[in-house]
Amino acid sequence: MVELRQNEQKVLLTLNKLGGKASIDRIMKLSGLAHASVMRATLKLSKEKLAQLLEQKQTVVTLSSEGKTYARDGLPERRLIKSLIKLGGKAEINRIVKETGLDSQFAPIALGWVRRKNWATIKEKKQQMIALRDPEKGEDERFLGILKAKKAVIIEEHSEEKQIVADVLRRRKLVEVEERILRTLKLTAKGKALVNKGVTIVDEVSQLTPELIITGKWRETKLRKFNVTAPGPAFYPGKAHPLQQIIERAREIFLEMGFTEIRGPLVETAFWNFDALFQPQDHPAREMQDTFYVSDPKTGKLPSEEIVDAVAKTHENGWITGSRGWGYKWNRKEARRLVLRTHTTAETIKYLSKHRNPPIKVFSVDRVYRNEQLTYKNTAEFHQIEGIVVDKGVTLRDLMGTLKTFYSRFGLKKVQFWPCYFPYTEPSAQAMVFVPQLKSWIELCGMGMFRPEVLAPMRIEHPVLAWGGGLERIAMLELGLEDIRVLFSNNLGWIRGVPLRR
Ligand code: PHE
Repeated sequence: MVELRQNEQKVLLTLNKLGGKASIDRIMKLSGLAHASVMRATLKLSKEKLAQLLEQKQTVVTLSSEGKTYARDGLPERRLIKSLIKLGGKAEINRIVKETGLDSQFAPIALGWVRRKNWATIKEKKQQMIALRDPEKGEDERFLGILKAKKAVIIEEHSEEKQIVADVLRRRKLVEVEERILRTLKLTAKGKALVNKGVTIVDEVSQLTPELIITGKWRETKLRKFNVTAPGPAFYPGKAHPLQQIIERAREIFLEMGFTEIRGPLVETAFWNFDALFQPQDHPAREMQDTFYVSDPKTGKLPSEEIVDAVAKTHENGWITGSRGWGYKWNRKEARRLVLRTHTTAETIKYLSKHRNPPIKVFSVDRVYRNEQLTYKNTAEFHQIEGIVVDKGVTLRDLMGTLKTFYSRFGLKKVQFWPCYFPYTEPSAQAMVFVPQLKSWIELCGMGMFRPEVLAPMRIEHPVLAWGGGLERIAMLELGLEDIRVLFSNNLGWIRGVPLRR
């Protein structure tokens, strides 16, 4: 005679009520039991051969935000063809793209798909496209249509055809695909026989109360047994984003090393971002392709005339620095332009213009912006770690020591310094770390000692050690990422799976 506990009986009876076969979800709903309780009961029922647990792999497909747009407006290649037909079936590609109102960055992708789907003839030489009719809807479009109507589509294990479509759409980032296991419970003949014989639910008590003890009722009460080794439901408490945790760690390391944090605005004048750092006004880094300029308002305020004048003269002829400068006419208007700061060195030099007495040890860990193409290793918005030390008689050797200490606390031990160039430091170097997994050296930061052309206008009389480098690089190494975009994609599954950093 099997002895069933309260929840096990409940699950058995619920299953019977549901016709002898039901998903765990339905059993949960009807019985009012939690997932863990149903699963625990299921374990026992299976062991006693009263029920059988069936597991089936399922793929759940939902639209991504881009997919939603396409499900509404049509795939870009479809829109291209529609426009082409509107234009008479033969037209120049540029014209078609324009007619479609397609963002120019998507045009090559849409064209690629037109080609792949063989929807039109493309005359490369004349940059022309020809199509006589709107081709029939493809599997992918039909699938998008279904997704739009049903929000989610479940693909069973053996439906290969649908798997393939879903895979194509997933690679185009139009759908999100989640694997899950559908669990169904089925009453066995033995289970059915037991139900027919009549199972009554005996009340069980899961908590021994003072009242039960005082009144002596505990003697007659059936106490529920706990299985303390049974797995509980997955639990996702709130936690800081992995990147944020690494930012905090960088902060802690700096603080432990005796540095103080400084922060500044994301929008800076070109003066602090470039001019004060002795970067000539025709320096390539200043161009639109590399730097984001703010269009409204276009300009900001310059600091005191004394500093501006000194910077101007240093650029033009070297002023009192012993340098010959860059030998051009410095333009104040150019310096007033507002930019999204391209490095935190803008904050460093601004800070130094107001604090000149050693010892100074300050740092920042903050956002910077560069007009970069998004790739697996570049984003237009990222974080820089930056620090400076100002003291009597400090040298490059001190800087190398400081950096070795800093990065080794991040677990990066094999650090080397290679010579390189920055317009504002001399000597300049870059810190490199050897990454065994990649079997290569990667750059951690730029570093150096500020040049007299940077120091003199700020009236700084002592050597300044400075360095700045990307934080995401370190994050990628720490988290074992191959694609930097993961850090910014807010993929909950990934975020939940990353363990807390210590
Ligand atoms: N600002 C430099 C960069 O963004 C790094 C750097 C900082 C170099 C300080 C030298 C000194 O790459």
